[in-house]
Amino acid sequence: MVTSAPTTTARVLNTGLGQRIMSATEAAALIRSGDQVGMSGFTGSGYPKAVPIELARRIAEANLRGQKFQVSVFTGASTGPELDGALAMAGGIHLRLPYQSDPETRKRINAGEMDYMDIHLSHVAQFVEYGFLGKLDVALIEVAAVLEDGRLLPSSSIGNNKTWIDQAERVILEVNSWQPSALEGMHDIYYGLQPPPNRGPIPLVTPGQRIGSPYLEVPSEKVVAIVLTDAPDRNSAFKAPDQASRLIAGHILEFLSWEVQKGRMPANLLPLQSGVGNIANAVLFGLEKGKFEGLTSYTEVIQDGMIRLLKSGKLTCASATAFSLSPEMLTEVNANMSSYRDRIVLRPQEISNHPEIIRRLGVIAMNGMIEADIYGNVNSTHVMGSRIQNGIGGSGDFARNGYLSIFMAPSTAQKGTISTIVPMVSHVDHTEHDVQVIVTEHGLADLRGLSPRQRAHLIIEKCSSPDYKPLLLDYFNRAERLSYGKHTPHLPTESLSWHSRYLRSGQMKPGET
Ligand code: COA
Repeated sequence: MVTSAPTTTARVLNTGLGQRIMSATEAAALIRSGDQVGMSGFTGSGYPKAVPIELARRIAEANLRGQKFQVSVFTGASTGPELDGALAMAGGIHLRLPYQSDPETRKRINAGEMDYMDIHLSHVAQFVEYGFLGKLDVALIEVAAVLEDGRLLPSSSIGNNKTWIDQAERVILEVNSWQPSALEGMHDIYYGLQPPPNRGPIPLVTPGQRIGSPYLEVPSEKVVAIVLTDAPDRNSAFKAPDQASRLIAGHILEFLSWEVQKGRMPANLLPLQSGVGNIANAVLFGLEKGKFEGLTSYTEVIQDGMIRLLKSGKLTCASATAFSLSPEMLTEVNANMSSYRDRIVLRPQEISNHPEIIRRLGVIAMNGMIEADIYGNVNSTHVMGSRIQNGIGGSGDFARNGYLSIFMAPSTAQKGTISTIVPMVSHVDHTEHDVQVIVTEHGLADLRGLSPRQRAHLIIEKCSSPDYKPLLLDYFNRAERLSYGKHTPHLPTESLSWHSRYLRSGQMKPGET
């Protein structure tokens, strides 16, 4: 149902599409129970903010009438409380993919009330295009404007928007006037990726290069609703780096200097990928104070640290798929967006995370982890092996394909009651074959060229907390003597009980395992 007369607004310049402006309630009514909905949104930016709330309200009303109403929600990555939070709270999500970090969503997934598929971010677009995930019914996409010719000015993230629009049967647009119109020209949407066997090389050879269009294209007949909004992105307050983060950053910077000295990297390093969170930001802050100049970045999200590096002139360009800024930094960036336009490129996540490009550019991948084992296998996603924290995100895309793959965490978690260096990880996201460097506040283990037993010696020596080092050494020494095979010595029953040992002595209740 269209309530407005044929019209255009400052942000909807196409007269035909202007006729489809309606309220969020009316737009939400176009989504049916059982639909698979591809929504915009990546790390709290560029997600739809009005229709999901109305959809959640509809779902709650249906539930009150005793009717089950659920949709499957596909996004770029994490979103905000108006999307994940509201829909999860209403019990409205049947299947969620490919990444989330919302507390309510996490609670429901871990309670077994919601299905979740944790997928490499570079895989999502092609999984939908190949039909692996079934039909996409609706695309619900936030944009900054609809141009006169019907093309769309994207907002603060791209994620999978191109794919959702291409693949969905019907498209709902939220046009958000809070998003600066100065975003125009910052995006680079590549339309040249063909499905196999006709897929050619992606012509991107430097991080800041533009190979596509600044606009998203949508067949106008697919657009069933346009909703006008004016609401800010979710942005998380920024915590100043703590002592452990600063020490981790220091070890990484020293290591990178060493790599330059050895002639394995140019003096301005190679393009940097930096994961989410405070440790990642601490590394970027360290680079700001450090000696490296002329840096580049080919990453997933632009965080505060990246903006500071751009402002200081140390970073010449940053390529990503989304912003993920603190409120203070967001205010400053939005006010000065045009000054960043030539130095920031926002791309679809299938390009920002594409293995071919990551390998070609020689990206230095730096990501956080939950735990690593003494052989270098890494768990990025599951606390105690069963409770999902967020998801693998892009860490696998960058770790497997980068020039260097670095994983970092403090040596202990949960107020020191749990070692993050363990005999055997309780869940594997990145195998020993994809992990080259492990770093904690105590030191850095460079695992390149080492056999499993050499790796174990080095990781325990350099990375473990002094409180846990004797226990790890004891385990490893006995495993070397008693293990069935001596290539990767393990005492399976004991290694698997390592976590529950600390659960029993720690703060968690047994039922929470
Ligand atoms: N055992 C038990 N709990 C652990 C733990 C461990 N080994 N390691 C972390 N935790 C707990 C923390 O105590 C914290 O719990 P709390 O919420 O109750 O305080 C929680 O897990 C989150 O840990 P924290 O140290 O705050 O996480 P972080 O913000 O540094 O993020 C990851 C670390 C691994 C969760 C995060 O980097 C992530 O989601 N990575 C996967 C995706 C990714 O790498 N994306 C970037 C690709 S571009």
